[in-house]
Amino acid sequence: MNAKLIIAALVALGGTQLAMGWGQKGHDTIAAIAERHLTPATKAALDSLLDGKSIVYWANWMDNASHTPKYDYSKTWHYKNIDADQSYVSAPKHSKGDVVSALNREVAILRSPRESEAEKILAVKMIVHFMGDLHQPMHLGHASDLGGNTVKVKFFKNEANLHSVWDSSLPEAAHKWSYTEWSDQLDRLPEAEERAVMGGDFDSWAEETYGICRQVYEKTPKGTVVSYNYIADWTPVVEQQFLKGGLRLADVLNQIFDPEYVPVSSIKK
Ligand code: ADE
Ligand code: ZN
Ligand code: ZN
Repeated sequence: MNAKLIIAALVALGGTQLAMGWGQKGHDTIAAIAERHLTPATKAALDSLLDGKSIVYWANWMDNASHTPKYDYSKTWHYKNIDADQSYVSAPKHSKGDVVSALNREVAILRSPRESEAEKILAVKMIVHFMGDLHQPMHLGHASDLGGNTVKVKFFKNEANLHSVWDSSLPEAAHKWSYTEWSDQLDRLPEAEERAVMGGDFDSWAEETYGICRQVYEKTPKGTVVSYNYIADWTPVVEQQFLKGGLRLADVLNQIFDPEYVPVSSIKK
């Protein structure tokens, strides 16, 4: 292959690479917030499964894994599509699974006495990651535009798409913080409000995120130039979604691993 052909092939590949979740910052922050709300029993169970590594260590891993042949089956598990003319309930389900079915599946694996330790380790990594994706509004986007991946916008002067703006450009422009700084700044809710956030299950959380997604579509038609005003308007929503994702991830893990934990409402089907 000559140099021109190689470059053309690389450009083509780059163009088809679809974003799979919040950027690393979102996933890391959500896991870091969750980590601060785990009970001692849950922490001990996770320490044993993850060999002492933190859930933050694994938070973004699925976005790489799903691009490898071994985990190719999980490509569609990062999102759930609801088209404009559908409702959350009436939207057709993807035959290969979606973020909600994946979360229910992996929780069942962790609750089952018959599953191997290797399956359980993978299930923890998946739940930590997919709870993040469940709170990224464009991961509940339309099938017709691949969750905003084909909605062309500008991020300041650069060509971008609505999905990638929400995965990473917008969060990174909101605050120039590390994930620890993000968690320190966001994780300050009074306990009664934290409990209110934790109530619900995967379906109710997905439907809530879908409500935000609809507002995003309304305010970001194709051709929008995303600039300072957009960042100021939507930063509180990014912050809220990171915090909700983190608190709810802690709630899910505590429900699975701590028999003494009393949830606001059960995620069990
Ligand atoms: N990432 C890749 N494809 C997607 C889709 N259809 N919806 C949301 N996120 C995606
Ligand atoms: Zn993802
Ligand atoms: Zn994404």
